[in-house]
Amino acid sequence: MNARVSAPAGARVFRLDAAGVTYAMGVDERGYLQPLHWGLALAADDPLIARAAAELSGFDPAGSITAQEFPGQGEGLVAEPGVKAAFADGNRDLVLKYRAHRVEDDALLVELADIDRPVSVTLRYVMDAGTGVLGRSATVANEGIEPVRLDRLAAAVLTLPVGDDYCLHYLSGRHAAEWTRHTAPVGPALTLLESRRGSTGHGNQPWFAVGRDGLTSEEHGPVWYGALAWSGSFRIGVARDNLGRVRVSAGYNPHDFAWTLKPAEVLETPVLWAGYSGGGWGGASRDFHRFQAARILPGGAAARLRPVLYNSWEATAFDVTLDGQVALAEKAARIGAERFVLDDGWFGERHGDRAALGDWTVNRAKFPDGLAPLIARVRALGMDFGLWVEPEMVNPDSDLYRAHPDWVLHHPGRPRTEGRNQLVLNLARDDVRDHLLAVLDALVRDHDLAFLKWDYNRNWTEAGWPDAAAEDRQRVHVAYVRNLYHILSELRRRHPALEMEACSGGGGRVDLGILAWSDQVWPSDNTDPFDRLAIQDGFTRAYSPQVMMAWVTDSPNWANGRRTPLDYRFLSAMQGGLGIGANLNHWGEAEFAAAARWVAAYKEVRGTVQRGRLYRIDPPLDDAAASATMYVSADGGQAVMFQMLRGSMFRDDPTPHRARGLDAAATYAVRMLGGGLLPDGVPPRASGAWWMARGLRAPLKGDYSGAAFVFDREN
Ligand code: GLA
Repeated sequence: MNARVSAPAGARVFRLDAAGVTYAMGVDERGYLQPLHWGLALAADDPLIARAAAELSGFDPAGSITAQEFPGQGEGLVAEPGVKAAFADGNRDLVLKYRAHRVEDDALLVELADIDRPVSVTLRYVMDAGTGVLGRSATVANEGIEPVRLDRLAAAVLTLPVGDDYCLHYLSGRHAAEWTRHTAPVGPALTLLESRRGSTGHGNQPWFAVGRDGLTSEEHGPVWYGALAWSGSFRIGVARDNLGRVRVSAGYNPHDFAWTLKPAEVLETPVLWAGYSGGGWGGASRDFHRFQAARILPGGAAARLRPVLYNSWEATAFDVTLDGQVALAEKAARIGAERFVLDDGWFGERHGDRAALGDWTVNRAKFPDGLAPLIARVRALGMDFGLWVEPEMVNPDSDLYRAHPDWVLHHPGRPRTEGRNQLVLNLARDDVRDHLLAVLDALVRDHDLAFLKWDYNRNWTEAGWPDAAAEDRQRVHVAYVRNLYHILSELRRRHPALEMEACSGGGGRVDLGILAWSDQVWPSDNTDPFDRLAIQDGFTRAYSPQVMMAWVTDSPNWANGRRTPLDYRFLSAMQGGLGIGANLNHWGEAEFAAAARWVAAYKEVRGTVQRGRLYRIDPPLDDAAASATMYVSADGGQAVMFQMLRGSMFRDDPTPHRARGLDAAATYAVRMLGGGLLPDGVPPRASGAWWMARGLRAPLKGDYSGAAFVFDREN
C-alpha cells in the first residue's frame, strides 16, 4: 500500500510521509524543484522552504549550486545530471523547472520542463506505507517536432542532508566470489557503482547504503539506502559536492547509452527504491527485506515458502540420463526434498558447454521417451519438477544459430566474441523475443513444469543491433531488458503456478528488476559452506533471505577444495532457502540419516528463516573465528540462532552470542535445532531479556562446526 501524498493544488512544497520517514521537495522563486528533506519524519508544520541560491563566486554560479531534484545538463551544472539531451540543431543546454503536479493513485507526479525547448520530465514518487521506502522514476517526453537525443538518463537523483561524515557501503565481486561488502568514505571524489556488461553483472550491485561515521552501527544510527530495479547496465554515482551536500544518482549507464526520442515519444526509467532507517545497517536491511516481500517479490504476502530442492548439476554435470536422474530423485526424496531440478545437459546435442544452447528440445538419446517418464517418477516420489534453461544464449554450434546467425548481438564484419563458447541473442529484436516466449511457453505447458532455473552465463561484447536504424541501435540496452521482462511476466501470467529462479553464473543478475519475476535466486556458484556465510552476509544486506538459495554439496568443495563436515554444510545452507546439490550416489546410510534429520529440522524453522527479521549477531567477516546469525519470526513466536565456528584456537572461547530482536518481557524455551541436549550452562527457558543480555554459546570445537538454537515463545 502506498502512503498518502501531501500535494494540494497550488502547493509549492510536496511531501510523502510514512513509517517514520519524510521525503519533501519544493519549488523555489526561480522555479527550480529543490530537494528539501529525506530522512527522519518531520512534524507536519516543520519549516520546509525552497530558496533560490545566489552565486557564490564566478566559479560557482547560482545554477551550479542550486540542489535540484532532477537536474538537466545545462546552465552551470557540475554535479551528476538527471538527464542530458542534444537537440537537432546542436543545442545541448537543458534547464528544467517546475511546470505542474498531480496525484494519481497515491503517486505524486511532478512535471518539469525546459525553460524554452519542448522537452518535459515527469518525476514519479510513491512511498510504501509499511516501510517508508520511496519509489522514484522519471519519464522524458519529446513534446516538439524534431528528434531529441538523450545521452544520459537517471531514475532519480537523491540528496542527503549536508555533512562530511558519510560513509558508503556497497557490494561487489566476481564469478564465484560475489557479495563482498566494501566501505568507503563519501568525499568529493565521485564513486561509481556500475555495470557495463549489458546485465547487472557480478561486479557491483545496483544497491547502496550510506551511514554516518561514528553514528551508524549495526543496530543504531541513520542509514539511507536504495536499489535500482534494473537488470541491464546501470550506474549509481555517490559524491559530496563543494558545499557538503551528498548526492546519489542512479539510472541507465551512460557509457553506451543513447536514445533518440522521436516527436511525441517518451522514455521511462526503471524505479529506484530508496529507504531511510534510524535503526542502523541491520534496521535498514530488515525494512528493505520486508518491503521486498510486500512490494517486489511475486505473490507478496501469499508467496509460498521456498521448497527444499535437489539439483543434480554438481552430481552429474552434462552427463544426464533417465536412469541416472531417477536414481538421484529416489535418493533426494528419501531425505525430504520437495522439488527435483534437472540442470544443464538435457536438450539438443548438449554434451558439454560447446553446443546446443538455443535448441530447447529434449535429447532423445538421453531421454528416449522425452522427460515424461522422469517427471512422472519425480511426482510419484512426492516432489515437483523443475528444469534448467538458458534462453538468452546460443552456441554457434546449434540449429538455432545455423538458422538465424543474425539473431545475436554483433557488429557486422567484426569478430563475435564468445564467452563459454556462446553468443548473446539480441532480445531487443521482437522476433527473438516472440520466438523465446513461444519456445518456453510450450516447454512449460508440455511438461507442466513447476519451476524454471533461468540461467545467463556470459556478459555482452560487441553489443551491436545492425538491423535497427543507426540512431536507434543503442536502444539495445533498454529494449533488451524490457523484452526480457516481457517474456518473464508473460510466462508467469500464462502459468500462474510456475516458479522461477534467477541465475547468472551464480549471482550475476540479482536486482529488484529481475526479482519482480523470480521466486528465488542463485547467489553464487561458490557452494563452499564457509565462503557461503560471507556471501550470505553480503547478499542479505541488500536482499531478503526469502529468495536466497544455498545447496549442500560435496566435500571437498569444487570451488576451493575445502573439506567440511556434513552438519556444517547443512547449517550454512539452511540460512536461506535450502537445496541439496551433492552427489547422493556417493552417500552412505549415515549421511542419508543426517540429511533427513536436517531437512526435517529446517522445515520447522524455514518460515522464520525465510520471512523473519534477520539480526547479524556476530558477522562471519574479518577472519572471525566464530559467527552467529539470528532470525525472529514476524509474529515474534519463534527465533533461530545459527552459531558457526570456523576454527578453534587455544581452548574454549567463553564469549556468548547475545540474542537480539526478542521481546524482553516474554519467556522463551530454547532447544537445539535437529535435536540433542542443550549445552551445560544454557537454561531450558528464560526471558527475552535474559537471552539478549546473557546470550548463549554452543561448545563448538575443531574446525567448521556449527549448531543452531530454536527459541519458542511461551507467553
Ligand atoms: C551456471 C550455473 C550453474 C549451472 C551451470 C550449468 O554456471 O550457475 O548452477 O547451472 O551454469 O551449465
